[in-house]
Amino acid sequence: MQSFLVKGHRLYLRIAAKLNWITGTDENPLYFAGQLSFVTFLIAALSGIYLFIFFQIDPAVAYQSVEEISSTLLGSLMRGVHRYSSDAFIVFSLIHFLHTLLLRKYHLKIAWFSGIVMIFVMGLIGLSGFILVWDAKAKLLGLLSAQLLTTLPIFEPTLPIAFVLKDPHLLGGFFRVMLFAHLFFSLGVLILFWIHVMRMNAVRLLPPRNITLGLLALFGILALVVPVRSDLPATSLFLPLHTTWDWYYFAGYQLLRWFSPTLVWVLWVAAGIVLFALPFLPKVQERLALSVPEIDVEQCDGCRQCYLDCPYSAITMRPTTSGSVGQMQRPVFKASIDPALCVRCGICIASCHLQAISVPIPKPLPAQEAEASLLIYACGSSLTVEELHELRKYGTVQPLACIGDLHPAMVAEQWRTGQYSGVMLLHCERCYYRLGPQWTQLRLSRYRRPQLPKDVPTDRITMCPTSASLAECLAAFQQQSEQIDEPVQ
Ligand code: HEM
Ligand code: SF4
Ligand code: SF4
Repeated sequence: MQSFLVKGHRLYLRIAAKLNWITGTDENPLYFAGQLSFVTFLIAALSGIYLFIFFQIDPAVAYQSVEEISSTLLGSLMRGVHRYSSDAFIVFSLIHFLHTLLLRKYHLKIAWFSGIVMIFVMGLIGLSGFILVWDAKAKLLGLLSAQLLTTLPIFEPTLPIAFVLKDPHLLGGFFRVMLFAHLFFSLGVLILFWIHVMRMNAVRLLPPRNITLGLLALFGILALVVPVRSDLPATSLFLPLHTTWDWYYFAGYQLLRWFSPTLVWVLWVAAGIVLFALPFLPKVQERLALSVPEIDVEQCDGCRQCYLDCPYSAITMRPTTSGSVGQMQRPVFKASIDPALCVRCGICIASCHLQAISVPIPKPLPAQEAEASLLIYACGSSLTVEELHELRKYGTVQPLACIGDLHPAMVAEQWRTGQYSGVMLLHCERCYYRLGPQWTQLRLSRYRRPQLPKDVPTDRITMCPTSASLAECLAAFQQQSEQIDEPVQ
């Protein structure tokens, strides 16, 4: 299964790289699926507040109130935006789910479990939303749900019949429960989302502005061109045989066409068990393996840089001994790594200006020929062992678990040997550990501590994503280096 996921991830990257031609790397939706899930949720929530103001909570008049909302231009626009953003949420969260699954990030248990619960809760929010319209589709949904629920021994077997025959006036209580679910589960999703990202440092919540504006425009245009309309009103007089169908939220019910309700339950529960069990699978380390870094506590001066840099908040500053200032006792804070939270990215080893954090890193691979004079630091999370070896035709290759592990002092030390014509950093397009290239770029351009020593020329260093054409990247870099080498006339 693990190798299947690895292949799947490579395919995902290839598709994303193709999309880069159209969107560019900074605005590729496949790199921002989590943020897009969040922003579509926000759009749905805000447009939902508008609809709620004009909606009547009584099932006898609910349908009519939705019709009135849709009869105005603004109301129809808001209804359309609400529906299309809710549908887009399902698409983006499934892409995000697939991406994290392919990356085998299920070992980040808090994010994984809360993500699954969020999708489940969002499904319930969507279904309750469809019921609120109280049209034939709502009735069909109620019927199918009742059919599923009555296979459980706790529900009355007459529930579906009650649903078909009852006059909508008599369903007020059920209706209020649906509205309550729709609103309060939406608030619940916000809490779940906070839990989802709480162990991540410097988390990015929103996608690039242009993608958000593009999405808003798309939902607006769709709402005007293909306005969302209700089916016929739900009455006790007819069975909902001909209704429209929303594939995004009703896909689970589709199974009822092929299987018995009991088998549908079995399939759902089995899928849930598999998803919840994944984090307990043994970790297979097919990426470059590092161990949990060690901190030399004696050396640590408590500067907090590693604590600020760790992408998964695995480092805490702990009071250790007490230094005394006059009569006052002052705690001395030292960095400490929680191995249970550490994902072994190695980013913290490059954070420490005293180089007090260490972990053994792989040996460099020597250049294939003497003329190959580049020094290449390559991310072992996005390149295979074979690809790392291939790079030797360009120069000496230093594999790293993440480009974020590259300490500026290490670059300086190797540059000063005078053996290299330039330094190339190859990193993931979207860092597997989220923050590696970002921190490295800031450190090497001297905007973040520890900074690159002043004697290393920054124009001899280049960063290139592994998804880009290496040949193009090298050619551009070589041209730049030659220009620097040209004697001034
Ligand atoms: C349902 C709505 C969801 C939203 C709004 C959402 C949003 C996000 C956001 C904004 C991030 C931070 C990404 C970053 O900073 O790079 C994130 C990370 C993550 N999400 Fe979700 N997510 C959702 C569902 C899921 C699901 C269903 C799963 C898997 C079951 C999942 C698993 C993860 C994991 C493992 C991370 C950490 C990724 C990393 O460290 O690189 N999420 N999510
Ligand atoms: S190796 Fe990565 S996850 Fe672990 S403490 Fe260092 S920065 Fe944090
Ligand atoms: S970066 Fe180094 S000195 Fe600063 S807190 Fe971390 S271990 Fe201590």
